Amino acid sequence: MREQLLAAEKVKAIEWRDGALHLLDQRVLPFEEKWSSYHTAADVADAIRAMVVRGAPAIGIAAAFGLVLGARARLLEGGDWRAALEQDFTRLADSRPTAVNLFWALNRMRERLDKLKPEDDPLALLEIEAIGIYDSDREANLTMAQLGAELIRKQQGNPQNLLTHCNTGALATGGFGTALGVIRAAYLEGLVERVYADETRPWLQGSRLTAWELLNEGIPVSLNADSAAAHLMKTRGITWVIVGADRITANGDVANKIGTYQLAVNAMHHGVRFMVVAPSSTIDMELESGDDIPIEERDGCELLEVGGHRVAAEVDAVNPVFDVTPADLIDFLVTEKGVVERPDKAKLTQLMCRKRLH
Ligand code: MRU
Repeated sequence: MREQLLAAEKVKAIEWRDGALHLLDQRVLPFEEKWSSYHTAADVADAIRAMVVRGAPAIGIAAAFGLVLGARARLLEGGDWRAALEQDFTRLADSRPTAVNLFWALNRMRERLDKLKPEDDPLALLEIEAIGIYDSDREANLTMAQLGAELIRKQQGNPQNLLTHCNTGALATGGFGTALGVIRAAYLEGLVERVYADETRPWLQGSRLTAWELLNEGIPVSLNADSAAAHLMKTRGITWVIVGADRITANGDVANKIGTYQLAVNAMHHGVRFMVVAPSSTIDMELESGDDIPIEERDGCELLEVGGHRVAAEVDAVNPVFDVTPADLIDFLVTEKGVVERPDKAKLTQLMCRKRLH
């Protein structure tokens, strides 16, 4: 399966090349495949905030390379470069609040810095660390894809209809994707009849990005309005809802793209299995429950306008872009360290002590 997945890989969104970070601009997909280059930590932070790059693991990877760019500039400036680098840490950490992968990646970079010896080449070692973060995310996705597909295989009556939300694919990660990685692997195993992709208002990650990724690989996909999900569960024989995560707290609550919570409630009502796929870098054992997760609110214009044209009456909009699904609505959490059925604190504590599976 690993080889089949590698052979099917088509999309890439992040490249570290010639000492610069190159990002596929996700704001203009699927109509334009525009790459931009980033040479400073501040520009990478702005790209994360503006959602040139998005998706929890991808944000973490971009921030790690942003820190490398910051270190390069601070070293050139001379003086106390370590102290000056703190400004880059802060700027990158302030770019988006909800996905913990951003802070996890910056922490890893800080730990690497703290271990530097006087004779070390700091820039070379930071670059190795950032590349390690990128590569290990890709590897984690390959493992999770196989674990998740195995769960689908065990369910009676293949091929099956799956429903997903937001974009959790190659665009959102170091490669292959989390939830979309599972869907890809399941498709390669002949387990998928059709994927229903929620359009994911207001930023349209589903209609612009997920639909594009699946189409590129010839996986049968239908787009639906977010509000059609319950009706589709009732009428289209959907067996699984499969989503990613931006932060999972110690008790198993899951923050993910706004609309995930109502999917989980509806899935339980209709007897549809609910699977969350996320690397362990998304698990934040320092937060007890989902109530502690900072939920990003973005500009109301994302709701009030479409393509720069106003479509709403002259009202204010409230635009929280993530919500929290309570742990008791989750059937399976798939990570690179293994699968947790009905996640809770004891199971997550045990999981975090394990090594990754492959
Ligand atoms: O606002 P976004 O597009 O960054 O939100 C992305 C999501 O909510 C994804 O579902 C999540 O990051 C998992 S991606 C592997």
